[in-house]
Amino acid sequence: MARLVRVLLAAAAIVFGTVATVTFHQGSASLQAQPAANGPFDSSISQNAQRMIEEGRGIFRYDTFGDEAFWGDQLKLHQAIAGQKLGGVGPGLSPKMALNLGLKVDADALPSDLVTQIKAGKVDMDDPASTVALLKANAVVGITGFLNPDGSAKSVGVQCSICHSTVDDSFAPGIGHRLDGWPNRDLDVGAVIALAPDLSPYTKLLGKDAETIRTVLRSWGPGKYDAELVQDGKAMRPDGKSAATLLPAAFGLAGVNLHTYSGWGSVTHWNAYVANTQLHGKGVFFDPRLDDKDRFPVGAKAGFGNMRSNPDLVTSKLAALHFYQLAIPAPSPPAGSFDAQAAKAGEAVFTNQARCAQCHVPPLFTEPGWPMHKPDEIGIDDFQANRSPDKRYRTTPLRGLFARMKGGFYHDGRFPTLEAVVNHYDAHFKLKLTAEQKRDLIEYLKSL
Ligand code: HEC
Ligand code: HEC
Repeated sequence: MARLVRVLLAAAAIVFGTVATVTFHQGSASLQAQPAANGPFDSSISQNAQRMIEEGRGIFRYDTFGDEAFWGDQLKLHQAIAGQKLGGVGPGLSPKMALNLGLKVDADALPSDLVTQIKAGKVDMDDPASTVALLKANAVVGITGFLNPDGSAKSVGVQCSICHSTVDDSFAPGIGHRLDGWPNRDLDVGAVIALAPDLSPYTKLLGKDAETIRTVLRSWGPGKYDAELVQDGKAMRPDGKSAATLLPAAFGLAGVNLHTYSGWGSVTHWNAYVANTQLHGKGVFFDPRLDDKDRFPVGAKAGFGNMRSNPDLVTSKLAALHFYQLAIPAPSPPAGSFDAQAAKAGEAVFTNQARCAQCHVPPLFTEPGWPMHKPDEIGIDDFQANRSPDKRYRTTPLRGLFARMKGGFYHDGRFPTLEAVVNHYDAHFKLKLTAEQKRDLIEYLKSL
């Protein structure tokens, strides 16, 4: 009898062992185990993916969706860039000033003669004419200049990449290869908009005079923008600080259900929102949640919940734009930027003692499902949450944190360092982490 039990146990071990091995192979989805995808429809899928990435990149970097009718024709931003000497107004925007405002230059777009001249110190970085030359070369990240036949500035359009790309500084500070999806935390976008000679579209929308609008724009500071101002008209938080949020990462977003700090919708929802209501491109946008006059008095009055332009320069671009953003991986932190051994210990703290992984579920580092939390769950005020449809904050995906260290953490940058973030959670969740656990946890966050 005892022998029979032993035999059965041994048989079971073999069977379960085999099952476990098979499961392991399926779980790790090893490519070798699958037949090659070379049927005729398989290649359509691959070609489609490649085409969408190429198209999406072009849209993300260069498409203005017709918004030059707003930034150029109405706000006349090009006139402020060119300056009086070149037929615009005021002193103009020199390359030096532009770089100081955090605008970036795409080194790959510079014609070789311009590169030679810059290297030889022959380009006057204090002359707005040099900025116009950069616009002509399509080298200013996120700004497209439209020129008259005589080379003078005619209009200017703005695109996604002005806020959601930076450069690697490989040529000079502020000049280098593009890094799409990396938030430009140097960019003082409010100060750039405040240069515009004519702010009447904003004064009409918000019912405030131009000086008030300029004060609000200048209150944002580097790395911040307020994407809800033209819906609720709330320029300041109750504590008197600016209502702007940080420019978030637009990388590592695949698999994440809701986007923006307060979870307005999917990537494509938000792309249509921004292209129509923020960039003032010409498209179609439908979100009847914005018709709520009590919550979104400005947007409801302006009809932002149902916008219909003809022709529609946005909708046909949304698929490729969406696909491209989902393809942007979170960048890996540079070697030596964190202590690998401490990070390993920190991973255990993240999962166990500190329970961070309850919400920041690896490898997405947000919750699969509906990753939304009431403000008191994470121990902060409800101001920004209440400006969004669900009145909650979305669990921020944490990969590539190193690429957004400037400007602080949480939607408004309230925590200047990761240490401050960890101390906040330690106090709020009464975690009683030791100094060593905190240190390890921080190294882990830096390693993501
Ligand atoms: C003027 C700066 C600016 C421009 C231009 C801009 N965005 Fe954003 N973007 C922001 C800010 C600020 C947020 C955060 C808004 C919030 O949380 O309320 C954001 C959020 C996002 C998010 C959500 C990321 C996340 O946290 O999940 C995506 C995706 C995005 N933008 C894509 C785009 C695309 C595509 C365009 C062009 C159509 C664009 N943005 C244009 C400033 C900008
Ligand atoms: C109850 C869910 C929840 C738990 C638990 C949680 N977080 Fe968060 N986390 C959030 C939400 C929601 C935000 C967005 C807050 C905001 O933007 O205002 C966030 C934001 C962050 C950010 C800021 C990211 C950025 O780019 O601004 C960091 C870093 C972070 N969490 C780390 C941690 C760590 C470390 C722990 C464990 C000690 C932890 N979180 C536990 C929900 C959670």
